[in-house]
Amino acid sequence: MLRYFTAGESHGEALVAFLSGMPAGLKVNQAFVDRELWRRQQGYGRGGRMKIERDRAHILSGVRHGCTIGSPIAVLLENKDWTNWTEALPVEPGDPAKHKRVASPRPGHADLAGALKYNFPEARYVLERASARETAARVAIGALAKLLLRELGIEVLSHVVAVGGAAVEKEVAWPAIAELYQREEVLLNCADASAETRMKEEVDHALHTGDSVGGVFEVVAHGVPPGLGTYAQWDERLDALLAAAVMSLQAVKAVEIGSGVAAATSPGSAVHDEIGYEKASGFNGFTRTRNKAGGIEGGVSNGEEIRVRGYLKPISTLRRPLQSVDFASREPVKAAYERSDVCVVPAAGVAAEAMVALTLARCALEKFGGDSMGETQRNCQGYLRQLREY
Ligand SMILES: Cc1cc2nc3c(=O)[nH]c(=O)nc-3n(C[C@H](O)[C@H](O)[C@H](O)COP(=O)(O)O)c2cc1C
Repeated sequence: MLRYFTAGESHGEALVAFLSGMPAGLKVNQAFVDRELWRRQQGYGRGGRMKIERDRAHILSGVRHGCTIGSPIAVLLENKDWTNWTEALPVEPGDPAKHKRVASPRPGHADLAGALKYNFPEARYVLERASARETAARVAIGALAKLLLRELGIEVLSHVVAVGGAAVEKEVAWPAIAELYQREEVLLNCADASAETRMKEEVDHALHTGDSVGGVFEVVAHGVPPGLGTYAQWDERLDALLAAAVMSLQAVKAVEIGSGVAAATSPGSAVHDEIGYEKASGFNGFTRTRNKAGGIEGGVSNGEEIRVRGYLKPISTLRRPLQSVDFASREPVKAAYERSDVCVVPAAGVAAEAMVALTLARCALEKFGGDSMGETQRNCQGYLRQLREY
């Protein structure tokens, strides 16, 4: 079973990710993993922190001579900013006068709920872990999941659908999303140039007014065969697993599979994807006129592209802060401000790719099994043959 978790504080020494359950013999391409980390750091509207960090995955275990060996994989990502925080956030008690308190909780951040829960007198430790810096660790192991999926013919990428009120109107086809991946400069990771210009204006407006802006990203998984996930048990449904995985990302407040939101207010005839048959097409000849279902029916992948959207609230750290209360005096004050992003929709999309890839890799390994890549691929090929001969 594929399992993973992460550790690390935003301004601590490093982030660490653990990934257990990968088959042996998967080629690990360090440049690919580091490029994924680079992609997470891009996007117009990021704060000063991203200029300091240039993430590189330092693989500590589970990979030898360029391949996975079936043992748990541990990855370390250094926080370059740590040199500025050694006295403010030491492991040992240190000098309390040098600690950096977060004196007033930011509405929308984890500050107040976390301080109450863990009984902290202020919010420093809360934001250190609640911060989305943690997503870098997910992206590192998500890259390994992507490498596994590639061996099974599956690719996972994302693009930005909306920033504030600026949105792409039409569905974006896979080749345009794949083309975005090749770009060496990322503005808002949007496939529609005129929409991207309007998105940039939304970010500029937030920058000029001391505000922040949210948006929508879409993750697309291409080449997923029918049969991942199952309706047999509630917690094995692929749509449920993907929703939880994407919702677990900081600031994601809604998840949509396919055209799920519009479907709720449309007649069935306008929602369901009619079925046809064309020998030699797709995995087994069955075709669809469209993909409103987003590639999942009954909690099972149906052979179409999987499309998952994440709806991101605006960042809660504002340069023009909202009203709050001082933790110590309980007097009304403005919420704390710490260097922050203004728009993170493209980066959240990359983090969501990692979560989707980890989820699909888990489902694929549950279906195909295998302790080595040869075994996993053989089982996968056997299943694909079964689909062709259906
Ligand atoms: C890639 C990414 C970067 C983020 N950067 C910031 C940031 O710079 N400042 C901030 O206040 N929130 C940022 N957030 C959002 C917060 O981490 C998040 O709102 C907070 O942890 C509270 O969790 P919740 O919004 O899920 O309730 C970011 C989120 C993502 C996905």
